[in-house]
Amino acid sequence: MAVPATGMAAGCCAACDACSACGACGGCGACGACGACGACGGCGACGGCGAGVDIELTNDEAVAAYDCIKAQMEVGYAKANLMSSTGLDISSAYSGWEKYNSVPYKSYTHGGRFVNNYADAAAAKSYGDYENGGTMPAGAVLAKDSFAVTAKGTVVPGPLFVMEKMASGFNADSDDWRYTLIMPNGKVVGTTNGDGSDKVAFCIDCHIGAEVDSLLFIPEEYRN
Ligand code: HEC
Repeated sequence: MAVPATGMAAGCCAACDACSACGACGGCGACGACGACGACGGCGACGGCGAGVDIELTNDEAVAAYDCIKAQMEVGYAKANLMSSTGLDISSAYSGWEKYNSVPYKSYTHGGRFVNNYADAAAAKSYGDYENGGTMPAGAVLAKDSFAVTAKGTVVPGPLFVMEKMASGFNADSDDWRYTLIMPNGKVVGTTNGDGSDKVAFCIDCHIGAEVDSLLFIPEEYRN
């Protein structure tokens, strides 16, 4: 893994915000690309400069951007206090679990944001075998955090996407998976069979088409 440019950890985000020559943040390359941005009228027309902006990052830039924003993401998600059926505080604990992708990669199905995939101990054995892992045991939790790079080059936290395999009979339509969507400020948008269940039904609609247990897996080139 490449080490980001000097000063990255401390000063990167600020440098990125300013769209200065912070090569390692990549967002700044994006700034150039979005010279269009100024022209598009204060960035608004560039797609809200939020998650929708189609920014490309090199792998090194994606790693640097994640390093830069990770602590801020963790603080936000932790406010959700999302508990698993086995008593884990998922939203606080997930970032200490095994990570299965080599570098953050762009996921068009999760808002075009850059994402990382973590699995708890109960999910680890099976998830590490990917397509050959079979059906997950109850208590298996998968968490995907995300960040976006705005057209101005600012790295911003995105939602946390969580799947937990529940006991058999929990929800036939979802393969007994509980989907939860958590905003960067810790607000829970919805959770299957709980508050806002309808707001996460779209997760099921897409995941249920998977060949193995509603799992769609990390693109091969980004697997550890
Ligand atoms: C349009 C399809 C689509 C929708 C909608 C979608 N996902 Fe996914 N999801 C995928 C794909 C494809 C992958 C694997 C590749 C990737 O990361 O982009 C994935 C991977 C995941 C993973 C890692 C486990 C796995 O399947 O490998 C989690 C966790 C996850 N999604 C949660 C969610 C949640 C929560 C929602 C709803 C808020 C959601 N997803 C909505 C397509 C989708």
